[in-house]
Amino acid sequence: MDLLIKNGTIITDKERFQADIAVENGKITCIGTNLSMKADKTVVATGKLVLPGAIDAHTHLAMPFGGTVSADSYLSGTRAAACGGVTTVFDYPIQRKGKGILETVEARKAICDPEACVDYAFHCCITDLNGGTLLDEFADAVAYGVTSFKCFLVYKKEGMMVDDATLVKVLLKAKETGAITNIHAENPDLIDMNIEKFLKEGKTSPWYHYLSRPEFVEAEADKRAIHWAKSVDAPLYLVHMADKEGLEAAIAAKQAGHEIYVETCPQYLEFTCDVYKREDGRNFVCSPPMKGQESKDALWAAIKAGTIDTVATDHCPFQSYEKDWGKDNFTKIPNGCAGVENLYSYMLSAANDGLISFNRAVELCSANPAKIFGCTQKGSLIPGKDADIVIYDPDKYVTISVRNMHSDYDHTIWEGKKIHGYPVQTYVRGKLVYDNGNFVGEPGYGQFVKREPKK
Ligand code: URP
Ligand code: ZN
Ligand code: ZN
Repeated sequence: MDLLIKNGTIITDKERFQADIAVENGKITCIGTNLSMKADKTVVATGKLVLPGAIDAHTHLAMPFGGTVSADSYLSGTRAAACGGVTTVFDYPIQRKGKGILETVEARKAICDPEACVDYAFHCCITDLNGGTLLDEFADAVAYGVTSFKCFLVYKKEGMMVDDATLVKVLLKAKETGAITNIHAENPDLIDMNIEKFLKEGKTSPWYHYLSRPEFVEAEADKRAIHWAKSVDAPLYLVHMADKEGLEAAIAAKQAGHEIYVETCPQYLEFTCDVYKREDGRNFVCSPPMKGQESKDALWAAIKAGTIDTVATDHCPFQSYEKDWGKDNFTKIPNGCAGVENLYSYMLSAANDGLISFNRAVELCSANPAKIFGCTQKGSLIPGKDADIVIYDPDKYVTISVRNMHSDYDHTIWEGKKIHGYPVQTYVRGKLVYDNGNFVGEPGYGQFVKREPKK
């Protein structure tokens, strides 16, 4: 036996019990009480929680965007993930006009492979169907293990937006091949109209980032995506949902029996649009922006009610000097914020404080993303599954600061946030990658997760 974790309190999405976990060759081999087999390494977890590693289903590492490249490489982003108890990240390669799906994915995989410190999977963003020929590549991508595709309903100028016909073609092809379509939903025309108006009026502060993309701008696109998914009976995953009206539409569609999943992010649970009035408001600029208190309350209510499916981060940090490009013009601020290292501890802290159960935190951050995206070896603590394990100290207090994070960015929107309980060890397929504040993993250890299509 390689590893024996003794006497921890095991938490899954459904259960809580005291037991030992035995690990060999990267897999959980046995869970039981008083396991007595000999192991190379024994860890006593008395008083600690033992959890499945988190899956951050939404990151943008080394992403060319906003006139620069996001500040975390695959190395630093996955190092930070390991230190936050995230054992798998999903990244978003972007297929560009004229390029193929596997060509796009393999190019990113070549960068990621030697750098990844935790396991990783890809959703592929589709920006152009290349006259329709790209649709013929979906089945190969699914066979390769990429079983989700993303469409942006925004970012027209960046050449990433798709029109409704493309969206419907992607929805249909994804459905046919056992894949799922992820959507970034905001209305681009309204955003452009608002931006033009505000700039003409000299309204250039980050507050106008929010006002150019307020609640109804997101809601229209959420509802449009839901409408098309329902119309063609295709599965849909709405990423980084931040508004109440769209959330309600998604919940209504789910409750009517449609396969629609909702992701939100810690930043929408923690902050409101008021952050854009702050002197450092530009650091909080992401799309969709944080919304008003009503939306934040609705998101928390859905987290508690079980109608939001996943919490992921949309990790896409930029350095301060890059955020400063928009000091006098919000449209010049690269969109995105940090979060991968904060996801699990944030949601577990909410559990520790009694807002949700620990089972629910595990469901949102690990079990559900594994199920929705076909990571059959991940997301639970069961014999036969990957030994992606977090040992968590519920009594540890940590105040987040850029100084105790493990990314490459130079500031964080989470600065000063007090977290109740914290991961003390992270194992990826049985290997210790994080130990009490220190990264102890190895770039290149992380493996590509070949995912299963829907049946
Ligand atoms: O502001 C954000 N969210 N940046 C990353 C790209 C995206 O829209 O997900
Ligand atoms: Zn997005
Ligand atoms: Zn994103």
